[in-house]
Parts: sequence; C-alpha cells; structure tokens
Amino acid sequence: MNDLTSPVFSPATDPVSSAASAAARLRARYRQDVPAPAAWNETLDLLLSHRSVRAYLPDALPEGALDALVAAAQSAASSSNLQAWSLIAVEDKARKARLAALAGGQKHIEEAPLLLVWLVDLNRLGSIAEAQQQPAGALEYFDSFLLGAVDAALAAQNAFVALESLGLGGVYIGALRNKPLEVAAELGLPPNVFALFGLVVGRPDPARPADVKPRLPSQAVFFREQYGFGEAGLLDVEAYNKRFRSFQLEQGLPEQDWTTQAGNRVRNVAALNGREVLREALHRLGFGLK
Ligand SMILES: Cc1cc2nc3c(=O)[nH]c(=O)nc-3n(C[C@H](O)[C@H](O)[C@H](O)COP(=O)(O)O)c2cc1C
Repeated sequence: MNDLTSPVFSPATDPVSSAASAAARLRARYRQDVPAPAAWNETLDLLLSHRSVRAYLPDALPEGALDALVAAAQSAASSSNLQAWSLIAVEDKARKARLAALAGGQKHIEEAPLLLVWLVDLNRLGSIAEAQQQPAGALEYFDSFLLGAVDAALAAQNAFVALESLGLGGVYIGALRNKPLEVAAELGLPPNVFALFGLVVGRPDPARPADVKPRLPSQAVFFREQYGFGEAGLLDVEAYNKRFRSFQLEQGLPEQDWTTQAGNRVRNVAALNGREVLREALHRLGFGLK
C-alpha cells in the first residue's frame, strides 16, 4: 500500500483532459460560466482543482512521497540559482503540537502526519562566502531577504502541486510567523534563517471533504498593458460576495462576505496577530534588511 503507484494514490482529479472538464473546473473556480480556454490538459486540470485541506486521516505518508516532494521543490526556478531556501520536515508529534500551539492552535497541524517548514536561508550563502574568504555584503540588504522568500515560496508551491498530484492534501500555515523567534528556537535555526510558512501534508479525510474555493473574477486581477483602474477593471464585488457566501454555507463555515473577511484581515495592527514585530524579529534573527 505504501508505494507511489498503488491505487490509493490516485490523483486528486479525475483523469480527464476534455473541453467539458475545462468548463467544469472553471465553473467550480469562478462559480459562473466563463469561456473555456482552447488549451487544456491534465496539469491545468490539477491546478484548477486545488483546495486547502484542513481535515486529515492519521495515516503515514506513502514511502517515497517526501523525497518526491523535495525533488519537485528543488525543480522550481530560483533567482540566479542561489537556492536561498531550505526545508525542515517535522513528523515528531510533540514538536508538531508545539508548533501548532505557536500557530494559534491549528488542529490540522497535529492531525496530519507531516509539517513542512519552508525557510528563507541566507546562512548557507554566507557560509559559502566565508569559506571562500569572500565578503557577502549583498546579503545584508532587503532584496536578499525578498529573494529568499520568493525562492522558498516557488519551491513550496511546486511541492504543493506535487503532493496534490499524488492524491494528498495540504494547507499552508502562515501563522508560524505569529511567533517567529519561538519557531526559530523550536527548529534550531541558525542566524539568517527564517521560517516563512509551514505546509501541512497528509491524506485528506474523505468524510470531511474541502471544496474548491471560488476566486474573484479574472477581470479583477488580470489587466493587459497597464493597471486596470478603468471601467473594465471595476469589480462586481457583490456578485462575488454572493458566490463566496454560498461556498461558506456549503462548507459549514460562517456565512460571511469575502469583503467582510478581507476587511477584518487588513483592518488594523491587531489583525496581524503578532506579525507587526516581524521586522524587529528578523533583525534579531540576523537579517540586515537594509
Ligand atoms: C502563505 C499562506 C499562508 C496561509 N496560512 C494559513 C494558515 O495559517 N492557516 C490556514 O488554515 N490556512 C492558511 N492558508 C490557506 C488560505 O487560507 C487559503 O489558501 C485560502 O483561503 C484560499 O483557499 P484554497 O487554498 O482552498 O483555495 C494560507 C495560505 C497561504 C498562501
């Protein structure tokens, strides 16, 4: 049972690559009929089927899955090929429980067998420069931090797509940034290494399925040539709120508008849940951020 080719490891999506599938996936993503693109394949089918999973079976991951995810992550593009990221796999129950507590008590971290923690890692580049007796002054600048964050995010998303292709589920855990110093201590991070976010991985519990969460109409986020402040860029947010509320209701979540959720999330400093001290914490972790 524990091998990547076993039947339990079927992809999350039905094996379809037709126009009908494209239309169905797009309808699920936008909750309205949108013209299906002429180009379609199983990769697009998988990407459009994404949903965050917050209910897991306790089963261990199949043998070899983690290695496959790491190789997928390392196959992402990397700025100047600096590969300024690292990854820690946390499987120890007690450590997962402590990290779950630091992330606001998110139960799915404890429920799933694996928590991947994606790190901005400028330490390795610094050490390499030091070994070569070279300065590494560029690492002191904000762009180097941003470069590592972009690299880590791209690697993580490759792993996310890979795990979904194996029939597994995942959810990112940005809440690890609520307590950056405590998380760094728990993971034994050296200077110039920062836990950007977690990614919970496990087998989705079929008894508690997650559905595809509708997104804003593409016209709200996608412009041609210049930013769309014009008429075409105006967003019918009420129509989206309606579709979003239906999703919430179906999922047994509070029947809330997207605009209310988004507004609450950006309202004030309290909404940052501790992340307001992030720059100071990053300085303490060794980052220059000049
Ligand atoms: C960087 C990042 C951090 C996130 N942090 C959390 C988190 O701490 N807890 C959680 O339950 N979901 C978290 N999420 C998942 C989002 O809530 C989710 O992606 C979003 O609501 C869209 O839903 P979907 O992924 O099912 O399409 C995070 C997502 C991203 C990209």
